[in-house]
Parts: sequence; structure tokens; C-alpha cells
Amino acid sequence: MASLPPLPSVPGTDPSACILDAFRTAIAQRVSDALPPLTLEQAYSGVDYGKKGVDFTVALPRFRLPGKVDELASKVISNFQPDEYVASVTHDKAFLHFQLNTSNLIRGVLHQVYDHTANKPEGKSTYGTNTSGKGKKLVIEYSSPNIAKSFHVGHLRSTIIGAFLANLYKACGWDVVSLNYLGDWGTQFGMIATGFEKYGSQEQLEKDAIKHLYDVYVQVNKDAESDPSVKVQAAGWFRRMEDGDESALVNWRVWRELSVKKYIEEYDRLNVAFDVYTGESDVGKDWQDKALQRLDEMGLISDEKGAKLVNLEKWKLGRAILRKADGTSIYLTRDIGGAIERYEKFNFDKSIYVVSSQQDLHIAQFFKILKLMEFPWADRLEHVNYGLVQGMSTRKGTAVFLDQIIREAQSVMHDQMKRNEEKYNAIEDPETTSREVGITGVKIQDMAAKRINNYTFNWDRMLSFEGDTGPYLQYAHVRLASIGRKNPHLLPLPHPSQLDTSSLDSFSHARDIVFLLGSYPDVVKVAMKTHEPSGVVTFAFRLAHAISSAWEVLIVRGEEDLEKARARMWLYTTARDVLAASMRLLSIRPLERM
Ligand code: ARG
Repeated sequence: MASLPPLPSVPGTDPSACILDAFRTAIAQRVSDALPPLTLEQAYSGVDYGKKGVDFTVALPRFRLPGKVDELASKVISNFQPDEYVASVTHDKAFLHFQLNTSNLIRGVLHQVYDHTANKPEGKSTYGTNTSGKGKKLVIEYSSPNIAKSFHVGHLRSTIIGAFLANLYKACGWDVVSLNYLGDWGTQFGMIATGFEKYGSQEQLEKDAIKHLYDVYVQVNKDAESDPSVKVQAAGWFRRMEDGDESALVNWRVWRELSVKKYIEEYDRLNVAFDVYTGESDVGKDWQDKALQRLDEMGLISDEKGAKLVNLEKWKLGRAILRKADGTSIYLTRDIGGAIERYEKFNFDKSIYVVSSQQDLHIAQFFKILKLMEFPWADRLEHVNYGLVQGMSTRKGTAVFLDQIIREAQSVMHDQMKRNEEKYNAIEDPETTSREVGITGVKIQDMAAKRINNYTFNWDRMLSFEGDTGPYLQYAHVRLASIGRKNPHLLPLPHPSQLDTSSLDSFSHARDIVFLLGSYPDVVKVAMKTHEPSGVVTFAFRLAHAISSAWEVLIVRGEEDLEKARARMWLYTTARDVLAASMRLLSIRPLERM
């Protein structure tokens, strides 16, 4: 691309990754030149996205300069000459509104996406990414279901949000280690061991470990209601497990291994993977003991009928048991030891826990305890929480397993697709397609609003093709993907240096799409600050809408002027690359056909 005039560089910006940084710098330069002693950097921090139809807006009062806003505004406006970056400025009360040079905006953005995308394997575009996390290590724990208990919506949300965050940090240059911290330890395993003697079946276990162990657990709990000896027996089992008695551990090992195997398959369907499967069972005794000792020295431990209690009332975090009377460990203590071990093993710069807001107190307690123990890294721990979800049921009843949710998403979607027979028959692999679209629906519903909001699981709404739903998003991508198949005479496109985009300049539809594409690197940065997937979801829908309103106006097939048709084709394929990148960031696999 014929390069744009040089600009001074503003710290924290990178025009080679985000071309809008260059345009913002050009605006800031005008503002700071006109309003001394305002520095370029100060001016830059005041350049915000504009509202409806305005590219960028500067709110003058924020600079706290002497003089009336009208005077300040006229200083900027009076000598204004359009240049390669900025086309116009208008003054509205305390605001200055800037419009960018359309032609250079369009060329600049399309070239930039191309530079980050061309000749890279699918899904490997670096457009939107940045290097802010270079050299830094993130440990992120998410999903973390309990073996032999149900996989509830809380776990599903943790999985979806966690996978997004892991992708996000990678996109920002961090070295990311993802952990699944299984609930694979605790008194309930004594219960299962007890139940397994009576109800266990090797065959069932191998067929579906997750389901079988759950069934055994339900059964033995029923027995325990009428027979108090069951709990005593179970406690004995767990005691032996904690003591490392190999004969008490053999079965447990198999249960864990088979459950993990099944989980790996199911996560794979969700396009989710973990670097490490760890669990409560992995946490060593050492640090748990040391933590107790240290807190005791600080006078924070009291003995209650043999159980050890920590008193965190001073910090409004209540009291909590750290060790049971029979000496066995507890969830909270394992989290303390676990955090320390994570640090020893990974030396992280940040450690994130994606856990439901129902456990806010629990997490605050163990974070506090680690601070009291004066670990210098204790302030690197971060809890990313999220609200409750109601009613994750299937047509057959309440879902208790992840594979039930996946199957339900698929079958509801499948039924829906079947209603349009003609289209349905054209789909190559309706099973896989309906599963992918169904999963997209689940994920989008989950990430569409702020994490902390509660929502009600609703199959009809999330799997509709209308409205801002997962299926709609997949449809938008598929339509973009099909444009190449429908116009083979335009492909492959010539190198961008041979493409003339000037025919796009007069179309506001093209400009709207391009401006959104240009904003994607900022969307990624904002998500990094907020840890919210919803901004990325909103971006994907805005882009999908902008593209959908362009179809009628910017036609490709039927456009006889080849130069024009090619420019439009380039616009759409670029839009597709960025839409796909945003979907992948959300852990969604963009479909080619449906
Ligand atoms: N397994 C726990 C549960 O299902 C979630 C674990 C959350 N992570 C943690 N480090 N405590 O409630």
C-alpha cells in the first residue's frame, strides 16, 4: 500500500497492529498542536470512538485547559485543512467530532488485515492480537467439575468463559497454562468406595465412567439415609485414602482416569482443551500443614471439638474450617496448598480462577489467607466470577451431565434445521453441523451479557436463527464463506497492490464494515481489561449486521465491472476473516456450510 505520511509515535499504540491508532494519533496531533501546553499523549487519551455516524470524538472539558470550550474548539477548527488521515472536524457544544479520510481508511484497514492473515493457515490470522503480554505467564483454572457429581450450568459457564479468557490472553501474547482442577478428592470418594462394593460394575464403568460413578454415588447416598454405618464406613475409606493406603487408592485411580478420558472427548466437542488435568487430590499435605501452622502462630486458629477453625472476622470474611476433627483435609485448605504449588510450579505473573459468584466468599477467604501468609505473589491471584443460570433441563428432564447438554443442543438444532427440508437435504453432514450450530447457540447465550448477570437457559431462544443468536452468527459466516464458491471467476484475488478499492469509497456500507474491522484490535484490548466476553459478542453481531445490510447494495455476482467486483470480494473475504477471528476467540468454530 502507498504508505501514509509519517506520524509521531504515542506510547502504548501500535499502528502496525491497529491502524486506527495511526488515525487517532493524527487527530491527537492536531488537537495538541492547537492547544498548548496539551501534549500529544494527553490529547491521544481524549480521542474516543464517536456515537452514531461519527468516527472519533474529543470531549474538550476533560483536558481541563484554561479558557472556554468554544474558544478551545475554534482554535482546533480555524486552521483545519483535510489531510490523508482526517477529512473533517465539526464542533458540537463541548465536543469535537472528526471524520477520517474514507479512501485511506478503507485501504489501510483492508491491507492491514491482509498483512496479518494472508499465507497463514486457517485460524492463524494475527489480526486483532497484540504483544502486551509478551514474556508473561498466566495460569488459568476453569471448568473444574466434580467426579461422580453432576456437571451443572455453573461448570458449563466456567468452561465457556474460561476457554474464552485463555484464548484472549494468548491473543495478547501471554504464555498461557490452562488447568482443570477436578473435584477428585474429599469425603464423597469414601462414599463412592463404599457404594462401589455394592453397586459398582466394571463394564458400566468402562462404558461411561462419569455416569456410572454418579449413579453409584446417588445410590449410596440413599443407603446412607437409612443406615448410619454407611457414613462411618465411608469416612474410614477416605481416611485410608488420605493416608496413602494403596489398596484404598487403586479403584479411585481408575475412576479418575476413566472420567478424565471421557471429559477430554466432551471438551473436544466444545472446542475446549486443557494443558493440565489436576485436581484436589494432587495437592500435597506440606503446604496445607504449613498454612495451618502459620495462621495458628498469628493467633487466627481456634480449636472446635478437634476441628481447626480460622477466624477472618476482622476482614469480614467470617470463620471457616481448615481441618476436620478426624484430621482429614478440606476444600478450602486444598485451595491454599494448591495456589502455592501452582506458583512453585509455574512461577506465574497472574493466576486466574474462573469460578461462580456463589463461591465468592470461599475464594476471598483463601486469597486472604495467602496474603496473611505474606506470599509476595498473593496479589497476582484473580477471581473471575459469573452469575447463576436457571433451568438447564432437556426435554427428558434435568440435565446432569455435559454430554446430555451437548446432545440436547444438537437434537434441538437438528429438529429445527429439518423444518426446512430443501436446505436440510443440501447439508453434507447434518449431525456435525447441527451439533456445531447448537453448541454455538449455547455459547453465545452464555457470553452475550455481562458475566455477573444471571440468566435463564432457553433452548428456543438460543437456537433461533432470528435475533442475536449463535445460529445467526454461524449463518452470517457461512454466507460470507459461500461468496467465493459462488464467484470462482474472481478467485484467486490478485495481490492487494493490484486491487483498486476506490470504487468502495462512495458506499457508506463499505465504510461501516471497514470501520468495524478496524476497531477489532481495540475490542480485544477492552476485553482484556474487563475480562468480559460480551464486548466481543457485541462486536461479532455488529459486524454481521453491517455485512447483512451491505449484501443488497454491494453485489458481487452480477457486477460486470471486474475491478469493482474484485474490490467487493476483497471486502467480504476480509470481513469474513475478522468475523471468524472473533468467533474463534469466543471458542466457536466458524462453519463453511450449513
Ligand atoms: N470443583 C468445584 C465445584 O464444583 C469448583 C472448583 C473451583 N476452583 C477452585 N480452585 N476452588 O464447586
